[in-house]
Amino acid sequence: MRGTRKYQHVIETPDPGKWELAGYEESLPISEKSNPITRELDKSDPSQLVQLLRDCDAEIFQEEDANLIHYHRLYSESVLQTMGDIAKRVQEVLKDPEGGLVVLSGCGTSGRLALLLANSFNLLLKGQHRAPRYCYIMSGGDRSIVSAQESPEDDPHVGAQELEKVCEGKKNVVFVGISCGLSAPFIAGQLDLCMRHLDVYLPVLVGCNPVSMARNDPIEGWHSSFRQVAERLQALHESHKGFILNPAVGPEAVSGSSRMKGGSATKILLETLLLVAHKADSNVPVTEKCLLEILRTYERAHKVTYSQSKKIAALMKQTATSLQKGHLYILGWGTLGLVGIMAAVECGPTFQADWRDVRGFVTGGYDSIENKEGDLSSLGPEFPISHEDFVRNVLPSVSETDAVLLIFTLDDELNQIEKLAALVKEKTSNIQCISHATAGQYLPNSLKKTIPSIIGMTWPILFLEYEGTFIQKFQRELSTKWILDTVTSGAYALRGKIFRNFMVDFKITNSKLFHRAASVLQRVTGQSQQRCTEVLLQSIYGEQTLSEQIRNRTIAGHVGAAASQDKVLPVAIVSLLRNCAVQEARSRVDSSASIRAAIESSLNVPGRKRGAEEGSGSEGRSR
Ligand code: F6P
Repeated sequence: MRGTRKYQHVIETPDPGKWELAGYEESLPISEKSNPITRELDKSDPSQLVQLLRDCDAEIFQEEDANLIHYHRLYSESVLQTMGDIAKRVQEVLKDPEGGLVVLSGCGTSGRLALLLANSFNLLLKGQHRAPRYCYIMSGGDRSIVSAQESPEDDPHVGAQELEKVCEGKKNVVFVGISCGLSAPFIAGQLDLCMRHLDVYLPVLVGCNPVSMARNDPIEGWHSSFRQVAERLQALHESHKGFILNPAVGPEAVSGSSRMKGGSATKILLETLLLVAHKADSNVPVTEKCLLEILRTYERAHKVTYSQSKKIAALMKQTATSLQKGHLYILGWGTLGLVGIMAAVECGPTFQADWRDVRGFVTGGYDSIENKEGDLSSLGPEFPISHEDFVRNVLPSVSETDAVLLIFTLDDELNQIEKLAALVKEKTSNIQCISHATAGQYLPNSLKKTIPSIIGMTWPILFLEYEGTFIQKFQRELSTKWILDTVTSGAYALRGKIFRNFMVDFKITNSKLFHRAASVLQRVTGQSQQRCTEVLLQSIYGEQTLSEQIRNRTIAGHVGAAASQDKVLPVAIVSLLRNCAVQEARSRVDSSASIRAAIESSLNVPGRKRGAEEGSGSEGRSR
């Protein structure tokens, strides 16, 4: 039975999931649990995949249920209250012309979102002829915008140093550390710095787990775990010296893939509260009503987006086919280009994709994304990101096996888009587009002729004077993010890169991912934690007998060794399921049609005992 149901929902949100019940994968935080909705993700066809991902995304807007474990949700009073409190503090910073700064910081997708948001709100200020007040930090620096850099996430010292650098001379800083899983040491280091200098900083942590589920394993070479930092911050909540904004949004559709719902929720939470802060800046009081008004526009965006489910499924199917031998190129206009890059980059760490497989390009390249370090094109072949770079470096080798996706709004240069589409069509007929229009705007017939496969989104005109244009921009970005998350994750599921709803072929490039690998191994095989760690190490080092020297290495040491290996987790899974040496497991994985097929056939080996926890929905790892 539903809880309070205070608000009339724009979309029909699903009933509270089984994951909320006590005992469901108890030792795992929500962000790492496997979502009961997507248990059969790997067996689904494109239409089913879109439906499942749509339902998972809808959980973001689900209200808390008084009859189940008490998780705070997006619409919970405590969450709205915290958003309002933070907005008021941002408002103060906006009024401080000299010493005020809002810093947004994150790792991976969370860092890219920090950049996107900082740019949006500086643009909003620019429109009012005011100086920029926002800046971003991402672990690994600007190169992480287009190339996945997971290991810098593990360093709390560098996190703190980076924060000190950007805040030099500032006296009034709102620091927003984003870690969806409440897990990144980089962010822990920054929050710790803020809490040691509360006269300057207001620390805010944004994520999607309760504090009691924050990561608690020791951070190597540092004094606290993430959870200890979060607990210290929680203690500051009452005195308003620090805040934690952490509604539960349910487990990810692909377990642990926090770029998906975690990223979307981050965008919704921060854009809403910052917009309200700006509104308040023009002397409108911060109220729950203001927050709700904006939150509901995101719910609407979910409805508008998934009303195109059939076409999204077709795009996913085409992408999966192209990825067999070819590539997916995403060419976006304006900030939609950055959203495309965000989706493309994460395919590497999540699915072991080569950087050439899915690539994003944006009009104007680095000039348009306004990153701190400027043009990074010279760093290597994966760094040129403008449309000109695409035409010059990539288009000549594009063929029928490749797919090209154009993403734009009808306010963009349609002539340019048509020209580029015509050039692409000379190379491949697999050209599709996502176009965003405002009610009353129509795609020109000539463009429709050039690109017959169009996912056309029409957004209602918003009569919210001041922030209306920004809300529309945010809706379009989120809608594009939802489509691209769905298309890329679904395409890789169809390519056999997912088993049940576990990512099973990811790169082990930081400590979180090492623990995730061990946890997935336990959940798939039902074996003990100790045995799983042993076999994971055998797979990393390619040795059946582990020397004392290897056993004594730190997690960072294991991560360093794993970074140069591929298929570490699939080999470990097959080795455990078949009770065979890792060498044999590797040759089985290598000769299988897909990673999923290798696991599935190993599960069905005659005489293999089913693990106690296998398929039961219970969990493995404890932290
Ligand atoms: O470690 C890689 C990664 O999982 C990315 O995929 C993700 O975007 C990033 O970490 C950030 O995670 P979080 O926001 O939970 O710290």
